[in-house]
Amino acid sequence: MNLKDEYIKYFVEHGHVQIPSAPLIPENDPSVLFNTAGMQPLIPYLMGKPHPEGKRLVDYQKCVRLTDLDSIGDKTHHTFFEMLGNWSLGDYFKKESIEYSFDFLTNVLKIPKEKLAITVFKGDKDIPRDEVSANVWKSLGISEERIAYLGVEDNFWIAGDSGPCGGDTEIFYFRSNDEVPAVFDPNDERWVEIWNNVFMEFNKAKDGTISELPSKNVDTGMGYERVVAVLEGVDDNYKTSIWKEIIEVIERVSNKPYLGNEVSMRIIADHIRTSVFISADYAGIKPSNTDQGYILRRLIRRAIRHAKKLGIDMNSDYICEIALEVIKKYENYYKEIKDNKEVVLEVLKNESIKFNKTLEKGLKEFSKIISHLDSDTINKEMAFKLYDTYGFPIELTEEMALENNLKVDTDGFYEKFREHQELSRTASAGKFKGGLAGTGEIETKYHTATHLLNAALKKVIGNDVHQKGSNITSERMRFDFSCDHKLSDEEKQEVEALVNKWIKEGLEVTMEVMSKEEALKSGAEAMFIEKYADIVNVYSIGDVSKEICGGPHVKNTKELGTFKIKKEEASSAGVRRIKAILE
Ligand code: SER
Repeated sequence: MNLKDEYIKYFVEHGHVQIPSAPLIPENDPSVLFNTAGMQPLIPYLMGKPHPEGKRLVDYQKCVRLTDLDSIGDKTHHTFFEMLGNWSLGDYFKKESIEYSFDFLTNVLKIPKEKLAITVFKGDKDIPRDEVSANVWKSLGISEERIAYLGVEDNFWIAGDSGPCGGDTEIFYFRSNDEVPAVFDPNDERWVEIWNNVFMEFNKAKDGTISELPSKNVDTGMGYERVVAVLEGVDDNYKTSIWKEIIEVIERVSNKPYLGNEVSMRIIADHIRTSVFISADYAGIKPSNTDQGYILRRLIRRAIRHAKKLGIDMNSDYICEIALEVIKKYENYYKEIKDNKEVVLEVLKNESIKFNKTLEKGLKEFSKIISHLDSDTINKEMAFKLYDTYGFPIELTEEMALENNLKVDTDGFYEKFREHQELSRTASAGKFKGGLAGTGEIETKYHTATHLLNAALKKVIGNDVHQKGSNITSERMRFDFSCDHKLSDEEKQEVEALVNKWIKEGLEVTMEVMSKEEALKSGAEAMFIEKYADIVNVYSIGDVSKEICGGPHVKNTKELGTFKIKKEEASSAGVRRIKAILE
């Protein structure tokens, strides 16, 4: 059995409910480009909102982290990874959490406890040293010498600067054939962290003040790839069963063996896998020059450049062959991979056709530039030309420069970039603040209609209905919600009639700004997959709807016209999708 399945089975047997992995691209959440941790979609629940599935949850969560992009190519970092997580929302706390982890590692995975070591939080001026956790570990047979007490930098976890947080205890495994030292030295790199149990009992506000959360929660995260490597006894993730077949395809298309030091092969494998997941997401991301689309473009183009470096035939279908192997691996775990297989292949194909047209000439241009350089820096004009004429993302130029011990005037590049009225990365991050991008009058109406639809579904189907996502164009709205059955015709008619009744009533739409806690306490609807800022906008429509939302919205529902459901269909397991229009 595979580790993912074992993990879910164990925690389900111990009273946890399996929840689906949230989308890689958080819908309606402009504050982050990708989901970066298993806990991120659960933030509203860690903050105190009751979760519809109860107090014990387990999942495997898709994550993309770009902070390590420069380390990609080594043996242990990936842009995409899966995190195994179990949560207690105000149910069990330190003792049971540690006991579950220990039981799973030593009895299910059969890892000898002699190969484990632990860090616990040593406390700081406000929070005492975590003796409770240390004592639980000792009661399980972990010796005092194998427990290290570390400070805030190591054993206190928070996603970003604010939000739910707490001390944690981390589990390390001795990944080496050397004799296991009696005393644990957390700086000894043979010890690798495999699991992090965070005891989330605090909330850190934007201004730095710490307050207690309504309940004491547990948030754990286990790096899937790393643990598989441990179980399979290898020190190179790319030599595990996760990557085996993918690397084999790369070996075949490049006609070269993977011996363990082929950085380009690892980059290709990593980047194509991540590109498959980004382009398979229901958000429909395509390569572009902003936001997730830009990341997708960068990943594909970097993979292509490394493929060329490896000598892979640029006119062959290698990129799709590698992607197909990735798809095969994951389609049984992630529905979007199965559903969007063709889309993924098309995205990869089109982007490689586009880049191939200019790659060869661009590489020549690059060689020319560096052979004529009279300093150690590629200037902004040259970097911009490589970008604008040859489609080289600036990061690609930087990488190639580095390989030649050169630098790039990146700041100057961005100046030129802005001059050309394209959005720089920073501007593109800023453009979303406080509202939906490019929202016109029609989109605004649809946006208000999603709130009415959400409220109507709750009235007609039940309070268990929660928004799972939405997507708006000027032609229609799409709304995904949790619901275990296909809506009957009567239900659809009732929902439609209710929304139209509210529109006719001319309900006023009002907005209040409040803290996230206040908002959740006041009963405002928060979307399952969303990560909120500390201060949020709460939109109310008469007394029929109250939701945390970035807006914008119409002033009065009578502006909406007539609401019509065009289609109701399955979106994924337990999630239905409505497409509707306003006339
Ligand atoms: N939030 C913690 C982490 O990402 C544990 O899940 O490591």
